[in-house]
Amino acid sequence: MSCCNTIDTYFGAKHADRDLKRYLKNGPDRTTALLIEAVREAGLERATLLDIGAGIGVLQHELFPHDISSAVHVDASPAYIEVAKAECRRRDQEARATFVTGDITEVAGTLEIADIVLLDRVVCCYPNYDDLIRKSISRCRRVYAISYPRDRMLSRVAFWLDNLKRVFRRQVFRVFVHPVADVESRIAATGFERVSVRQTLIWRVAAFRRV
Ligand SMILES: C[S@@+](CC[C@H](N)C(=O)[O-])C[C@H]1O[C@@H](n2cnc3c(N)ncnc32)[C@H](O)[C@@H]1O
Repeated sequence: MSCCNTIDTYFGAKHADRDLKRYLKNGPDRTTALLIEAVREAGLERATLLDIGAGIGVLQHELFPHDISSAVHVDASPAYIEVAKAECRRRDQEARATFVTGDITEVAGTLEIADIVLLDRVVCCYPNYDDLIRKSISRCRRVYAISYPRDRMLSRVAFWLDNLKRVFRRQVFRVFVHPVADVESRIAATGFERVSVRQTLIWRVAAFRRV
């Protein structure tokens, strides 16, 4: 599969192994911890989860014990899917998880609707955020939450430096800071209202509930 913005090749085995080691040593990254807080605040129990751009699967590893009954893990990177599956097996959670390799904008129509849909640091990988949002939210029954960069100078500079590093490394992959007001108005236009916002210096975590 050839994925938009070379996502499937950029997020390879080396990245996935590094992310797993960091998670096992330090626990969830900050945006992931904030998304988990937002999901718990929404108060759904034994819900179904669709984690899009799920990486090594930290959200499901953390939410499985109490908050969710089953999870569908979608990622464009086959390497990340392999690492996530192995970790899921190690935790004895395999029977409740389904793994789908593919670009969500291409596979969304094949997925069951889930109570909770999460995108942790995925919107910034994708140039066409409108398509990404429309297709991912079409799979959501109740709670939709995303982490993505804040639309401010500090984030723009950080992401610009990140992209500059990739220019020197001759990598094609780029990250994007999208306009927050437009992203969230597109989510609202599909019948969701924002119920919480959490922010770090660079990132914004916004949760929405179907009206
Ligand atoms: C920066 S990583 C974040 C991984 C994980 N959500 C986390 O926060 O630890 C972005 C992930 O999203 C995946 N991804 C990006 N765009 C995608 C798309 N359109 N469809 C499916 N997966 C996508 C990438 O392969 C990668 O695993």
